Amino acid sequence: MKSSIKINPEAAVHKIDRNIYGHFAEHLGRCIYEGIWVGEDSDIPNTRGIRNDVVQALKDMKIPILRWPGGCFADEYHWKDGIGSKESRARMINTHWGGVVENNHFGTHEFFDLCEMLETEPYICGNVGSGTVYEMQQWVEYMTFDGESPMADLRKANGRELPWNLTYFGIGNENWGCGGRMRAEFYADLYRQYSTYVRDYGENAIYKIAAGPRGDNYHWTEVMMREAGHFMDGLALHYYTRLRDHNFVIENPDGNRIYIKDPNAVRGQAVDFEESEWFGIMKAAYFTEELVAKHSAIMDKYDPEKKVALIIDEWGTWFDVEPGTNPGFLFQQNTMRDAVSAAISLNIFNNHADRVRMANIAQTINVLQAVILTEGEKMILTPTYHVFEMFKVHQDATLQPLEIQSGIYKFNGEEVPQLSASASVDAEGKLNITICNTDPHNAAPVDCNIGGLSGKQVTGRVLVASTMSSHNSFENPTQVKPEPFTSVELNQEGFHTDIPPMSVVVLTIH
Ligand code: AHR
Repeated sequence: MKSSIKINPEAAVHKIDRNIYGHFAEHLGRCIYEGIWVGEDSDIPNTRGIRNDVVQALKDMKIPILRWPGGCFADEYHWKDGIGSKESRARMINTHWGGVVENNHFGTHEFFDLCEMLETEPYICGNVGSGTVYEMQQWVEYMTFDGESPMADLRKANGRELPWNLTYFGIGNENWGCGGRMRAEFYADLYRQYSTYVRDYGENAIYKIAAGPRGDNYHWTEVMMREAGHFMDGLALHYYTRLRDHNFVIENPDGNRIYIKDPNAVRGQAVDFEESEWFGIMKAAYFTEELVAKHSAIMDKYDPEKKVALIIDEWGTWFDVEPGTNPGFLFQQNTMRDAVSAAISLNIFNNHADRVRMANIAQTINVLQAVILTEGEKMILTPTYHVFEMFKVHQDATLQPLEIQSGIYKFNGEEVPQLSASASVDAEGKLNITICNTDPHNAAPVDCNIGGLSGKQVTGRVLVASTMSSHNSFENPTQVKPEPFTSVELNQEGFHTDIPPMSVVVLTIH
């Protein structure tokens, strides 16, 4: 079936926040250590210990914001362990992730140094699960207070005279799970308490983000918005695109849920998979639409003016680790399947730009749906990297609402839309449309009506591969990469195009 897209520029009112293209880097496996931080004495080219190749690649992708230090790690992190001379920093066990020794060589100063090199916004997650209110208060003072104070003096003694600009601060992470196994009502009160002491010093205004629900835990959103909605700027939803969950969920009579890790859960391989697993991931990615719509509807009830943002600060695919690697390191390869599912999720976030103002894919390097993989001094860009690079045209552009009549991709009696798309107009007046085809066998013919926007010229790029599991490796680093796309023709109403099977396309009309 032919698909059609109709753009409605008259309904265009919302900006696509650049932070939807955000990332997340945790002290987990080889994300921070090796992926970002190699130390000043490393043979790998670095600036003050931070890899030059990775910085350049992330800048090219236009990374707008970076969340750190976790994740589950954040609720065990004590920031004072990560300041001062490297030799004197505390060594701790990273109990969540592989039980390895964390030497704290990458701490607050190194994180801000990284953000300055990347020209990206820092987003720090504080410790509610095992940290005190005082500890969190002092961290914010250390980072942002300009003048004389115990924490500002300590910062200066550690070599940083001026405070840093810090806007985004998370008050805990997954406090229904690794962040303290709390009930929503209990965390809502703790959030109110902790957030009171996260202060704005001088001109620095903190944007406070509350730990939000896991997937379809609507009770959590309801309670948080009701009890603490007035005290937050954002609520963080976590949703991983998985074939199977790795938790048992027990629903309590009061609506609260307990998540218990299933040690035997099998999530499928990242590269070696069947079409049923391709289809399952497409379906799981499309479920993001339902989640965003339902959580947004609850938020609308308490916050009709949409002051509080829905922030999806952990999302992405989650498979079994690569055979032979540490199960606690969450290292997985990245294929065309990851690329198409990322495109579906990003299109959904764009199309909900009225409420979704940040998203952070998990995780930047060597962990889960990474955009970069490293092996010693080698670095490769994954298919997911290329999707982020292609979609960067939407950052801060004006969302163009669209109606899609999509063809269907059927598998084993089940179906999902063949096409996902979103569109925006940038500051120069160019119309950018991103489209992906979930069907691994059939091209998608599409007629697009651009609603009277002028279009004299069209250019495009496509990310496509020969198999569902095509990926980049250290031996073949450019197997999957964007190519020019020419299968598009302008016409009276807009354009006609044929989107190849299992592909991601960006079109620019000007
Ligand atoms: O991204 C990996 C982990 O997934 C994070 O640490 C945690 O917040 C989530 O459960």
